[in-house]
Amino acid sequence: MRTLFDSTKINNIELNNRFIRSATWENKADQKGHLTDELLKVYQELAKGQVGLIITGYAFVIKDEQPNPGMMGIYDDSFIKDYKKLTDAVHQHGSKIVLQIAYGGTQTNYRPENRVIWGPSTVPEMATGVVAHEMTKDDINTLVKAFGDAASRAKSAGFDGVEFHGAHGYLLSQFLNPYHNQRTDEYGGDIENRARVIFETYNEIRRRVGEDYAVMIKINCRDFVEQELTFEESLYVCKELSKRGIDAIEVSGGIAAAKELGAQRKKINSTEKEAYFEEYAAEIAEQVDTKVILVGGIRSLDVMDRLLSETKIDYFSMARPFLSEPDLVKHFQEKSKTKARCVSCGSCYTPEGNYCVTFSK
Ligand SMILES: Cc1cc2nc3c(=O)[nH]c(=O)nc-3n(C[C@H](O)[C@H](O)[C@H](O)COP(=O)(O)O)c2cc1C
Repeated sequence: MRTLFDSTKINNIELNNRFIRSATWENKADQKGHLTDELLKVYQELAKGQVGLIITGYAFVIKDEQPNPGMMGIYDDSFIKDYKKLTDAVHQHGSKIVLQIAYGGTQTNYRPENRVIWGPSTVPEMATGVVAHEMTKDDINTLVKAFGDAASRAKSAGFDGVEFHGAHGYLLSQFLNPYHNQRTDEYGGDIENRARVIFETYNEIRRRVGEDYAVMIKINCRDFVEQELTFEESLYVCKELSKRGIDAIEVSGGIAAAKELGAQRKKINSTEKEAYFEEYAAEIAEQVDTKVILVGGIRSLDVMDRLLSETKIDYFSMARPFLSEPDLVKHFQEKSKTKARCVSCGSCYTPEGNYCVTFSK
């Protein structure tokens, strides 16, 4: 029987339990995206708290392409030394750490007028209205190479793996969405074409890091808007990535325009409301031959235990609960808590950094 404290592996990463800190932009990196003491402390606390695997906040792979302030960067080699400090600190406590790598795109309100922002097509982003600069084939090649470079730097810096961000309405997710992607070339049209840039990104990352290094993706099960990546299409992309050898798929959902049906749903105050993408992740886990991670509104041990026995989902990923209680896994292990205290109010964002406003003194 599978349990939450099983020792398992994702490629070569040995994990002490099935709890994952989902990528969480902390808004604590410096202006260029470099590590600060404050940011390092966040990760030290998580590692001390026994989180099996920590996925970092999204790190931008191309300089100046930053959808939010205070994000981590990974756009040149100067980050390698920086992050060695981070990965060493996490490893000291027995946790593992994966770098999330991303290109933001037009779903942003951060300095959009000061930079060229790429997108699949020249359309206003559904929520922000920011219009993309339609990518040429050369731009796509530059993007794919930037992801590969970022992954290679992550490996040199001691990260245990990388997760590329294909969810939540950022650039790769926009390619999958039929409104944001209205291209008529080989990158647009049916899902085989809309997913092409994701397959090319995966292939390039794998080429750069080798077979024995963990490569994961975060992907939407659906976008939850009228013109959306549908579940059938998402399933197709997951199966294709699985065939190509991806090591884990983190299943999320929603883009900013989906509002209350987005990735971070509010008021998760009963077990029935928890794990709001479970039906999709369970079906993906049935159909792919790779590890599946569920994220979104997971709060209590009961729900995770049930999912572990009823489905083939392998891991449980949380973001807001760990902003509030970085030592949550330790409490779960010691049985001093069975549920996160997070009330899913969604007020974690402040200009001074993202943290739990509700429970901070
Ligand atoms: C403050 C904050 C920052 C986030 N930053 C990221 C990010 O950098 N990358 C990402 O993929 N998701 C990000 N998310 C989404 C979470 O990873 C997660 O998918 C979502 O919050 C649902 O999980 P939860 O209910 O456990 O919070 C962020 C969420 C919050 C609250």
